[in-house]
Amino acid sequence: MELAHVQTPALILDLDVFDENARIMENYVAGTKMALRPHYKSHKCTAIAHRQIAAGANGICCAKLSEAEDLANAGIEDILIANQITDPAKIVRLATLAASCLLTVAVDNAKNIADLETAAAFQHATIHCLVEYEIGMNRCGVQTPEEVYALVQEIEKRPHLIFEGIQAYAGNLAHEADEMIRKQESDKVEQRLRELLDFLVNKGVLVKEVSGVSTGTIGFRPHDTVYTEVQPGSYLFMDAAYNQLHLPFKNALFVLSKVISANNRQVVCDAGMKTVSVDQGSPALKGYPQAVLSMSEEHITVSAAECPAEVGNLLFVIPSHCCTTVNLHDHLILYRGNKVMDKVPVTSRGKSL
Ligand SMILES: Cc1ncc(COP(=O)(O)O)c(C=O)c1O
Repeated sequence: MELAHVQTPALILDLDVFDENARIMENYVAGTKMALRPHYKSHKCTAIAHRQIAAGANGICCAKLSEAEDLANAGIEDILIANQITDPAKIVRLATLAASCLLTVAVDNAKNIADLETAAAFQHATIHCLVEYEIGMNRCGVQTPEEVYALVQEIEKRPHLIFEGIQAYAGNLAHEADEMIRKQESDKVEQRLRELLDFLVNKGVLVKEVSGVSTGTIGFRPHDTVYTEVQPGSYLFMDAAYNQLHLPFKNALFVLSKVISANNRQVVCDAGMKTVSVDQGSPALKGYPQAVLSMSEEHITVSAAECPAEVGNLLFVIPSHCCTTVNLHDHLILYRGNKVMDKVPVTSRGKSL
């Protein structure tokens, strides 16, 4: 089928660009001690997770327990939930899941560690733990090496928990537009982590993994980086927000839309806020970089001077945020050139529990 025959609005993925983005990321980690553990949040498709594993990814990182369950159901064996799971009912689910795959979870609280042990013991399961270190994002995590060490000790005395290492994600730097600041601040993160590792080594702690890093900061890792695995997500698709950083990755993900009304004043197409997210600002139009988009639920309106188009023409909308846009769609259509190659479900669409 030709792309022109796809009913719109539709989430579409240019496989040639997608493959090239994946190759660029593989080159970043090749020859370093960093393994790739891509973040599932960007695509939420188990079919894509399998492609990433087949291409050499160590495992998959995700944000939600329900995403981890989908990944395990699809046969992904090594899963990191880079978040705290504290709800008692969810801890039961987590321990059940840990009995069927290699499951790692972030922790930053002693009571949570005790609760994980109780559930894991009940399921005869092992839960692997990363202690989350707060390195500037001001989200979860403890702030001092002493606090990290205290939690490591809590984990190490639990027979059903294994201390794997440190979760350290500097999400505050991911979209920093000033390249110099992004680099300087990334170096400071490396330095703080190095100090943490020295502190832990002096206490006799074996730290196997240091996990973190985004699409926006992967290029700044020094050759002797402390990170042993990286968790980028957006690099595969890219979006209008990340375009501002002029990274080597290119736009592979679009919402394909058709012009449904046009006159010499304005052009209206059939994508809107229900199919393209706006949490990171306005989307863009491929081929019309100057066009200012006015968004409503089911429509995008643009001036005819900025985007001369006729009823029936296809417009390729570049989402401002790929991850939240994907979560608005049931399917992702894969294409090369003008040809539709496949259609895969967005397996974990709406999975927030
Ligand atoms: C913990 C964690 N790791 C990795 C990422 C991936 O970031 P990006 O999509 O910017 O590469 C995110 C994004 O929110 C995240 O929260």
